Amino acid sequence: MSLKGKKVLLGICGGIAAYKIPILVRLLTKQGAEVRCVLTPEAQRFVSPLVLSTLSGFPALSSYTSEKEGAEVWNSHVELGLWADVFLIAPLTAGTLSKMAVGLSDNLLLATYLSARCPVLVAPAMDLDMYAHPSVKRNIEVLFGDGVKVIPAQTGSLASGLEGQGRMPEPEHLFELVRGSLVEANLKGLKVLVNAGPTYEPIDPVRFIGNHSSGKMGLELASEAARRGAEVYFVHGPMHLKLPEGLFARVVAVQTAEQMNEACREIFTFCDAAILSAAVADFRPAELQTKKIKKELDFRSIALEPTADVLAGLGQIKNSKQILVGFALETDQPEQNALKKLEKKNLDWIVLNQPGPETGFGSDTNRATLISRNGEKRDSGLVSKSDLAALILDAVFS
Ligand code: CTP
Repeated sequence: MSLKGKKVLLGICGGIAAYKIPILVRLLTKQGAEVRCVLTPEAQRFVSPLVLSTLSGFPALSSYTSEKEGAEVWNSHVELGLWADVFLIAPLTAGTLSKMAVGLSDNLLLATYLSARCPVLVAPAMDLDMYAHPSVKRNIEVLFGDGVKVIPAQTGSLASGLEGQGRMPEPEHLFELVRGSLVEANLKGLKVLVNAGPTYEPIDPVRFIGNHSSGKMGLELASEAARRGAEVYFVHGPMHLKLPEGLFARVVAVQTAEQMNEACREIFTFCDAAILSAAVADFRPAELQTKKIKKELDFRSIALEPTADVLAGLGQIKNSKQILVGFALETDQPEQNALKKLEKKNLDWIVLNQPGPETGFGSDTNRATLISRNGEKRDSGLVSKSDLAALILDAVFS
C-alpha cells in the first residue's frame, strides 16, 4: 500500500537507537508519506537534525522557536499534533516515558504528545535493567491505559554490551507498524487463509521437482490482510523471505503439494475467505526413491502422477458464504482461459497474471486483471506487488 498523502510525525528521544531513525524516515518517504521530526534536546546529540531535515524535506524541530531568514519563528506543538495522522515516538527513553506518564510538558516533543489527536505509537528502548525496572513497567502500563500503542522492546545485544530486552525494533519493523496503523481495519473479524510459494516434490532424499515461485505475492497479500485487521492463516512452501513477526494468527510451513493440500483443507473449514497464490506442483514422482539415485543406474526417466488441485478441492467444499480467490497464469487466450478456470474451480475471483519482463516469479512488480464470477473486471496496470495486494483485497472485500 502506498502511503501517499499520509502524515507521519516522528518523535525522537536521546537514546543510542536514534541513529537508526533516518532509515525509517527514508522508508516512509519512499512510500510517499510526508514525514516531520520532533526531537528532545538530548536527541540532537544522537542523530543529526540536518540529516533528518534533508531526508524528510522539513526542518527537524527540537524547541518552540527557531530562526528563519534572521527572524524568530514559533514552532506550534498544537499545529504539529493536529497535522499528524500517526505519531511514533522512537526510541522512547525512560525519562520521556516517565514524563509522558504524568503529563509533564517541558519540551516541544512532550507538548506535541499532549496535543496529538492521532494514534500514538511508542517504542521504548533502554538498557535491560532499566526496561525491567518496576517504575518503567508501571509507566508503560499508564501509557497503555491512556490508549498509546506500546511496541515491546526486542531482546538482543544492547549498546551497553549487555544482552537482554531493551532494543528498539529495526526501522523496517517500525515502518510496518506505522503503515499498519494507517490502514483502515476493515477486515476485522474475518479469518483469511493465504497460501504462497512453490512446493517441492521429492525424487529421492536429495533431489526434488520444484519451481521458481518466490512467495512474494502471497506474503504481500497475507501481510496486507493482517494489516487490515484480518486473522490470517499463512501456509507456505519453501521460501527465502523473512516473515513479519507476530502479524499472522498461524504460519504453517510445508514442502509438498500433499502437505499444502492437507493444511489448506483443515484451515479453510473455519475461514471466511481463502486466497491461493501458491505455485503448487501439478505432478510429483509416482515413486519416492528412499536412497539417492546413483549415476550407474542409468536412470533416464521419472514416472509422474498428478497432485491434488488444492484450489479446486476448496471450491468443492466451500459454502455459499466463503470467498475463494485463485490465480491464473495464461499465455494463450488469457481471459477466456482464466474464466474457464474460475468456473471450473468454483471461484469468486480470479487474478489473471500477465507474463512480461517486469512481472512474475521473483520480481517486485506485477500486472494483473482481476475477474469476478459476476463479470466484474479490474486491470491493475504495472504496480508493485504490495499495491497489487491492496487492489485485490479492495476488490474481493468491497
Ligand atoms: N493450484 C492449486 N493446486 C494445484 C495447481 C494449482 O491450488 N495443484 C492453484 C494455484 O494456487 C492458482 C490456481 O490453481 O491459484 C491456478 O494455477 P495455474 O498454474 O494457473 O493453473 P492450473 O490449474 O495448474 O492449470 P494449467 O497449469 O493447466 O494452466
